[in-house]
Amino acid sequence: MNWRVPLSDLDFDSAEREAALNVIESKWLTMGGVTQKFEAAFAHMVGARHAIAVSNATAGLHLAVRAIGGGPGDEIILPSLTFVATANAVLYQGAQPVFCDIVGERNFSISPPAIEASITPKTKGILVMHYGGYLCDMPSILDIAARHNLAVIEDAAHAPGTSLEGRGAGVWGDIGVFSFFSNKNLAIGEGGMITTRDDDLAEKLRLMRSHGMTSLSWDRHKGHAHSYDVVDLGYNYRIDEIRSAIGLVQLGKLERNNERRRKLTELYRAHLIKLEGISIPYMDHPGVSSAHLFPIILDHSIDRAVFMDSMKASGIQTSIHYPPIHTFTYYLKIFGEIELPNTEEVGRREVTLPLYPTMTEDQLALVVDAVQDSLSKAAI
Ligand SMILES: Cc1ncc(COP(=O)(O)O)c(C=O)c1O
Repeated sequence: MNWRVPLSDLDFDSAEREAALNVIESKWLTMGGVTQKFEAAFAHMVGARHAIAVSNATAGLHLAVRAIGGGPGDEIILPSLTFVATANAVLYQGAQPVFCDIVGERNFSISPPAIEASITPKTKGILVMHYGGYLCDMPSILDIAARHNLAVIEDAAHAPGTSLEGRGAGVWGDIGVFSFFSNKNLAIGEGGMITTRDDDLAEKLRLMRSHGMTSLSWDRHKGHAHSYDVVDLGYNYRIDEIRSAIGLVQLGKLERNNERRRKLTELYRAHLIKLEGISIPYMDHPGVSSAHLFPIILDHSIDRAVFMDSMKASGIQTSIHYPPIHTFTYYLKIFGEIELPNTEEVGRREVTLPLYPTMTEDQLALVVDAVQDSLSKAAI
């Protein structure tokens, strides 16, 4: 489909191309000096002591659940209004995801009182997700975690370059996990980053990223080691140098691009707030967001399928973030029916509009016009 305004688009130019070509010419393709540079630069940006690059955020979340000791018999509290990878990572470890409701239609983040109500003697940790790059209520969540001695993992897939009270996503919890999938704010195709301030967790995560091996090919190439031992069951969750090189270029653009996304978000809000039939979440969010997504909620009087079809007919791509995980066939089969009223309400009525840093104000105006037109067509 040839969209007039796609849901997202890359900000790539000759810098990404040159960075990739330089790696190819260097003939060192997998984790090495470029990845180390990317990790150091990312850790600096987030304010984390350690950053560990991985093949994707799903792998990073798996390692995070493993690193906090999550396994059979343990429960991990998490939202259902997230990408399925968040919960899958818990299942990979044989632990039990305990789905928890969100705050409501104005804030799609996990609800701290709902977290507290879900705690049992089996609870091992809390896995939060910073929806759209708007940080969860981390002060309240850390307070709950401290009172119940629980680990906290942040799924920060949407949240590079965000903060709350001056503290970055990825350094509130014990471990943060970022995604660099193609549609993310920092996009390299496939890739992710784990952050932590804890030296022991960092050591564990590094080992498990590469088969539990005590030295990497890069160390041996550099003459730092002759052989290696395997001290734990690990995986191949490594990243390669081409993607790290692209990541470094994208990291350099992150602040400017997040700022542009925030500006576009303000423009959207100024136009859309006047329309009948929709509401806009996170209007009074206190943090600095990455504005990864621009979600709206349709009133009960609007048919979402008709609305989205009408947007499509105008050449505007829209999406849904997210169909709740607990309603998927696979999860229903394992856990049966679970009631999460706020999550289900948002899952039924949310629509995500296009937002990306290279989007022009003319394109934004096209989207706004199409929203207005589609609302009238989709009125029940
Ligand atoms: C909230 C969330 N968590 C996890 C992931 C998984 O990221 P990746 O595709 O890098 O494995 C994504 C990516 O789409 C996501 O949006």
